[in-house]
Amino acid sequence: MQPRHFISLLDISGNEFRGLIKRAIALKNHRDPDYQPLKGQVLAMVFEKSSTGTRISFEAGMAHFGGNAIFLSPRDTQLGRGEPIEDSAKVISSMVDCIMLRTFKHETVTTFAQHSSVPVINGLTDEQHPCQLLADMQTYFEERGDIQGKTVAWIGDGNNMCHSYIHAATVLDFKLHIAAPAGYQPNKMISVAADDRVRFFDTALAAGKNADLIVTDVWASMGQEDEQKQRHSAFKDYQVNADIMRAAHKDALFMHCLPAHRGEEVSAEIMDGPQSIVFAEAENRLHAQKALLEFLLCTK
Ligand code: CP
Ligand code: NVA
Repeated sequence: MQPRHFISLLDISGNEFRGLIKRAIALKNHRDPDYQPLKGQVLAMVFEKSSTGTRISFEAGMAHFGGNAIFLSPRDTQLGRGEPIEDSAKVISSMVDCIMLRTFKHETVTTFAQHSSVPVINGLTDEQHPCQLLADMQTYFEERGDIQGKTVAWIGDGNNMCHSYIHAATVLDFKLHIAAPAGYQPNKMISVAADDRVRFFDTALAAGKNADLIVTDVWASMGQEDEQKQRHSAFKDYQVNADIMRAAHKDALFMHCLPAHRGEEVSAEIMDGPQSIVFAEAENRLHAQKALLEFLLCTK
């Protein structure tokens, strides 16, 4: 039987998503050091790109649950020397209980999962970042309750985070208002599939109007370092600042998956201001992914 993977938010139902959030909040509020459901189990983590939050949250989460995590990079594995993904998937999955991958091409994760005998988790690809959305949604639920029917504004690049927000809007049933410059819109197949849950706006101000949550991300993602200059000019009118927050609902919150660039995609005033919940959001990676590991590895 194929193991249950977590490659995309579309792999889980709304009920399962809400269950994961509830469990993440419970794990956060009542940490029991004797609860070690993954004792003796091993998570392999393959990172083709840098990471602070993802690596530490998975590693700490496995330790809390009595298991272990192994950090692997292409630099020191055969994956970086051209071993076929299919072969690496068979080898690694024969020795561990779960595998997390952070890669460039989304197909690397889907191909790996097809050949893995254990659950595979997408720890970020150029196309999606579903683990971040588990934490973001947990943070929203903690602050404001269920997000169903609310309005979220995505300001900036139509990137991996934006795609996962589109998926979250579908699975959790909220409205997503997107303002992205021409040439940096999200993948059309992904947004079209979300139907009327997604609306596009010409300006950041229009997208942010009456929103309950404002979200942005870096203008140049990992792997796009060479495009910095041209992206800076394309995105200059897409900064989340006090004007945007004023246009939003008076109780609106601000999120950013980090790392953030103050003065670029977000002003320092908003990033460090009272509506920003970015550090609670960052911490929740730990709790949300513990809930995910339990869901994938302990649910029969
Ligand atoms: N948000 C996020 O994925 O952080 P890292 O890149 O530090 O893992
Ligand atoms: N869009 C960013 C997210 C980082 C967590 C990137 O891919 O670099």
